[in-house]
Amino acid sequence: GPRVAELVASRVLDVPDFPKPGVMFKDLMPLFADGEVFRQVVDGIVAYHGRDAFDAVVGIEARGFVVAAAIAYAAGVGVVPVRKAGKLPRPAYSASYALEYGEATLEVHEDAFTAGHRVLVVDDVLATGGTAEATLDLVERAGGTVAGFTVLLELGFLGGRERLAPRPVHALLSV
Ligand code: PRP
Ligand code: MG
Repeated sequence: GPRVAELVASRVLDVPDFPKPGVMFKDLMPLFADGEVFRQVVDGIVAYHGRDAFDAVVGIEARGFVVAAAIAYAAGVGVVPVRKAGKLPRPAYSASYALEYGEATLEVHEDAFTAGHRVLVVDDVLATGGTAEATLDLVERAGGTVAGFTVLLELGFLGGRERLAPRPVHALLSV
């Protein structure tokens, strides 16, 4: 609800020109570092989806890991990492997406999910949606069923929600 959105808004730092000129970086580390706010954010996400509505949580390297592990722990389910290319030790599915220059690749272990497992995917920020689109594709290829996608912060002007449609996006705060 609006209270959680205000909490997120109060713990985001805008960093101009990072990682390159013209980009306004949204730094959520103050939120992660505030134990009371972090707890309310995590509990809010679990409550939104329902504690029994998912069987696993996927976190997207690297900032998504912070949120995913906490949500999984709070809900009493396991966490599955989606990693950047070349980090996973066993056979994995890969999904690539375009960046402004070049491309990025994410991977998940082929045996990451039990067939039909309902998977909650979480990340810190939704921007263009490339990261999320690749991740949702990986979850489905690996036999999971996407139960939801949640971010702490959505940058609406970058069109990620439209890119992921008709899959629903849950954002604690949209700017
Ligand atoms: C950032 C952020 C999201 C992604 C969103 O991750 O944490 O994962 O970008 O952007 P998109 O919607 O345009 O794909 P980044 O790739 O910078 O890596 P990090 O999490 O390891 O910092
Ligand atoms: Mg990230």
